[in-house]
Amino acid sequence: MFPTQVTLVEVGPRDGLQNEAAPVSTAHKIELVHRLQASGLKEIEVTSFVSPKWVPQMADNAEVLAGIRRAPGVRYSVLTPNMKGLEGALGGDAGGAEAGAGGEESARRPDEVVVFAAASEAFSRRNINCSIAESVERFRPVVEAAHAAGLKVRGAISCALGCPYQGEVTADEVENVVRLMKAIGVDHCGVADTIGVGTPRAVRAAMERALKHYPLVEVSGHFHDTYGQALANIYACLEMGVHTFDASVAGLGGCPYAKGATGNVATEDVLFMLQGMGIATGVDLDRLVDAGAFISGVLGRAPASRTGRALLARRAVAAELAAANAAAPSGAAR
Ligand code: HMG
Ligand code: MG
Repeated sequence: MFPTQVTLVEVGPRDGLQNEAAPVSTAHKIELVHRLQASGLKEIEVTSFVSPKWVPQMADNAEVLAGIRRAPGVRYSVLTPNMKGLEGALGGDAGGAEAGAGGEESARRPDEVVVFAAASEAFSRRNINCSIAESVERFRPVVEAAHAAGLKVRGAISCALGCPYQGEVTADEVENVVRLMKAIGVDHCGVADTIGVGTPRAVRAAMERALKHYPLVEVSGHFHDTYGQALANIYACLEMGVHTFDASVAGLGGCPYAKGATGNVATEDVLFMLQGMGIATGVDLDRLVDAGAFISGVLGRAPASRTGRALLARRAVAAELAAANAAAPSGAAR
C-alpha cells in the first residue's frame, strides 16, 4: 500500500548550491528559498555551517539564514557537522540556547540541524576528514546541544548505496551507522545515495536496515540521480511505506567530495510522479517550476528537471499561440 501523503524535503539551496562552480549571490539564495516556500514546500534545507575553506559556496550561511522571511509552518534546516557549525547556526550561542526561546534571535535560528556520516570509511575521510566512529563521536555534543536548544536533529548516511572510493557498500555497513546515530540520539535517519548508483533492490535492503532502528515516520530517502535511478528508488521506498524524500529543485546539486555525482532527484520530477499516483504533497507544481526556472536562470542554464523542462516548453508554446492569436485579425488563427 502506498502512502497517501508524502513530505518533500527541499535540499536545493544547500545540496544544490554547495556544488556550483559559479558564485551565487546571497540575495539570489534567499530569493530561491522564498520561491520554494511559496510553492508550498514545508521543509527546506537552506545552507550549511561547514568550513568555508572546504565549501566556499556556503560561506554566507549566517546571512542566508538571517535573510529569509520565515513562512508559517515551514521548517528550515541547516547542516552542522561539528560544534563550531552548531554555534554558527545558533548565532554563536550553542551552550546558552534554551528550548523555545522567542523573539528576534530564535527567528534567525534553524528549526532543525543535520549531521552526516558515511557508511563507507574511505568517504568519511574525504568528506569530513575523520573516521566514521570519530564523526559520530563529534556529533554527540552537537545532538545534545541541539536538543537543549529545542531543535530536531536529522542524520544523513552518505554513500549508503555505494562509495566513489571504496565501491560497494553493504547493508551491514549501513546498519552500523544507523545504530551509531540512534545511540547518540539522532532523531531521524536519512538514507543517502550520494553517487546515485543504487537500484531498487539494494535501496530496499538499505531502507530495511534503517527501519529496524527508526520508525517509518523518521526514515527518508535522499537519492542523487547520477545514473537515472532515483525515481525508481523512490517508488521502491513508497512500496515500503516510506513517505519522506529529499529532492532538489531543478535537479541542482552534487557533493564536492564525490566527483562526477550529479544533483539530487529533481523535486519537480518527484512531484509529477506523486501527483500522477494520487499522493498528496501540498506543493504546487507550477510555482515549483517557476522556482526551478528562476535559479536555473541565475546559473545560466536550463533546469535539469525533465518535468521542469517539459512544462516550460509547454508554456512557451501556449504563449506563442496566444501571441499569434492576439496578432491575427479577429476570427483568424483560432
Ligand atoms: P577539519 O579540517 O577536520 O576541522 O574539518 P578542524 O576542526 O581541524 O578545523 C579546521 C579549520 O576549519 C579551522 O579553521 C576551523 O575553525 C574550521 P582554521 O583554524 O584552519 O582557520 N572549521 C569550521 N569553520 C566553519 N564552520 C565549521 C567549521 N569546522 C571547522 N563548522 C569539517 C571538519 C567537517 C568542518 C570539514 O571537513 C568540512 O567542513 N567539510 C565539508 C563537508 C561538507 O560540507 N560536505 C558536503 C555536505 S555533505 C553532503 O553533501 C552529503 C549529503 O547531501 C547526503 C549525501 O548525498 O550523501 C548530506
Ligand atoms: Mg546529497
